Amino acid sequence: MKMPSLLLVLAVITVRAAAQARVGSPDRRNEVQVAVHDGRLSYSVRRDGKPLITPSQLGFVFRGAPALRDSLSITDSSRSTFDETWTQPWGEVARVRNHYNELKVVVQETAAPRRHFTLAVQAFNDGVAFRYEVPAQPSLGDFEITDELTEFALADNARTWWIASNRPRLDRSEQLWSEGPVSTLDSVQTPLTMEFRGGKTFVVIHEANLVDYAKMNIRGPRLDNRTLHADLAPMADGVKVRGRTPFVTPWRTIQIADKVTELSPSVIGLNLNPPSVIANTDWIKPMKYVGIWWGMHIGTMTWSSGPKHGATTANTKRYIDFAAANGFGGVLVEGWNVGWDGDWIQNRNAFSFTQPYPDYDIVELARYAHSKGVHLIVHTETSGGIQNYERQMDSAFSMYEHLGLDAIKSGYVTDLTSEGHSHWSQFMVNHYRHVIEMAAQHHIMLDVHEPIHDTGERRTYPNMMSREGARGQEYNAWGGEGGNPPEHETILFFTRLLDGPMDFTPGIFDILRTKTGPARTNEDARVRTTLAKQLALYVVIYSPLQMAADLPENYEGQPALQFIKDVAVDWDTTRVIDGKIGDYVIVARKQRNSPQWFLGAITDEEARTFDVPLTFLDPGKSYIADIYADGPGADWLTNPLPVRITHHTVTRGSHLRVALAPGGGQAIRIRPAGAARAPRRTP
Ligand code: NOJ
Repeated sequence: MKMPSLLLVLAVITVRAAAQARVGSPDRRNEVQVAVHDGRLSYSVRRDGKPLITPSQLGFVFRGAPALRDSLSITDSSRSTFDETWTQPWGEVARVRNHYNELKVVVQETAAPRRHFTLAVQAFNDGVAFRYEVPAQPSLGDFEITDELTEFALADNARTWWIASNRPRLDRSEQLWSEGPVSTLDSVQTPLTMEFRGGKTFVVIHEANLVDYAKMNIRGPRLDNRTLHADLAPMADGVKVRGRTPFVTPWRTIQIADKVTELSPSVIGLNLNPPSVIANTDWIKPMKYVGIWWGMHIGTMTWSSGPKHGATTANTKRYIDFAAANGFGGVLVEGWNVGWDGDWIQNRNAFSFTQPYPDYDIVELARYAHSKGVHLIVHTETSGGIQNYERQMDSAFSMYEHLGLDAIKSGYVTDLTSEGHSHWSQFMVNHYRHVIEMAAQHHIMLDVHEPIHDTGERRTYPNMMSREGARGQEYNAWGGEGGNPPEHETILFFTRLLDGPMDFTPGIFDILRTKTGPARTNEDARVRTTLAKQLALYVVIYSPLQMAADLPENYEGQPALQFIKDVAVDWDTTRVIDGKIGDYVIVARKQRNSPQWFLGAITDEEARTFDVPLTFLDPGKSYIADIYADGPGADWLTNPLPVRITHHTVTRGSHLRVALAPGGGQAIRIRPAGAARAPRRTP
């Protein structure tokens, strides 16, 4: 990691006992006011002088102790400013500016038990954040939080795009988004993206640096049409957070932008996490990968042992050869370890994370993959059997490290854990963090499915690379589940993807599933995009571990595979050129340490045409644009496969006419004229 290029910390002012205190962002557009009225502490947020969040309650309810909410007074406050620019080891952008003004407000009960805490507020140009910091004190030592009273009283009955936090199943982020006014919300997940004032301002509520605490969901308005409440995920006994002072809560973040296209890439959460604790990150490398995976989801292979077992030595070598021949960095293998036979969700404690099935020679495959320059990615499905996993983690991770296996895809398929805790409870937050830390000790990169949501921990632990945490491609493989509709990824981009990378697993070419699988022709069991849109997703959906998800045989003889081979996975710069939630997105990204740009455009079920000026290119240079567009007559429903590949000379002054078919997309590589067409190997 490079040292910050600019660091400035300045204590500005200390104000004693007052009923209110305020802090503005460096550009003075965002302002947070903290105030006490009638003994109750609240905060409010204004943008350009206009209210976004009106006075909103703060505090806690405890089990076995009075609520920390009443007879409060502000006893002290101080302000400081901070400015540094830091470099990510990998990311959507290489360099991140962390510039904010901070206000610390000391609050104390005026009556017994006279507990006290500090509300820390940071005002950035791209949003504001606050957290509770509770020092050790005689009257507040061990505690059990049963409710965090934080509210978000919106100034507007804003329009939102949301997924529920309490249905249709518990603890699932794998849902389709709904859209509607805040007044209709029941219980929803963050990031919660909202459009204020008819599109003049966009606001996203989320959290950052979630450590030893419960995930925050959001409860909708109960008494008015606009006051949202923090809603912490419970442990089995109903307690939300168990701890001991001193402690700090995660940051509650309120990202703010004038335009929806300015929401991404979102860095406020990264800035609110501590810098990397991994001194040498050279072993952490973004890569593209293929895997013994889609076959299980479409039914041509099984995780379990038997005649269709996917994870055999011979099959894995075939995938390794395919990866090596096409420049893919990794091969994921699911179903390699004992425990998949029978009902693997019920039998979760039967999983071994060290014992391979007899037809999978892990030692030989580790050697073979290494000899071909390919990373063998280990899959560990816990099914929510957390104790079973934790018991084996040390020996399993040691074994992987010993074999030179440096990447794990883990899974948590189930609702409650085997201990009865919410998937998002403090118990699970601590588990996920424990896995990240132990993986870091063993030099292992992580890709987590059914994860806790991303709150920026990849800044501190850059081995925490990607996660699922939304409906991915797999929903298109399962008949009866409804698949992902064409608008899905255009919402994903402005919601879930604001918290961090997603292992969506794009790149299915056999869109209609004609070549594989049982004879299931039902419309559900297919991909609901054009083939060109599958390519565009490599640019639109950011992940440092990016899968080419289809079966190797489905890529054979397909000229469009060249785009997947060429596309980068690590970016210097990201520009969202245009977008509308639920309708379309156009993103341009410049490859890290390279002059190449990639452009991805996707649409919902409507055909659209855009004029895209290439003003992001360097002046005075000539480039070749390799364009993968929806071909003649393409349509996600009736004719998804045609892709037209053309090559054009372009400059900074050029405009591209980007025509997208219904449910379609376009993927473009823009390389300096004269650069080779052959892919660079990643890594
Ligand atoms: C669900 C994951 O999302 C998927 O990728 C994986 O193949 C299965 N669980 C089995 O672990």
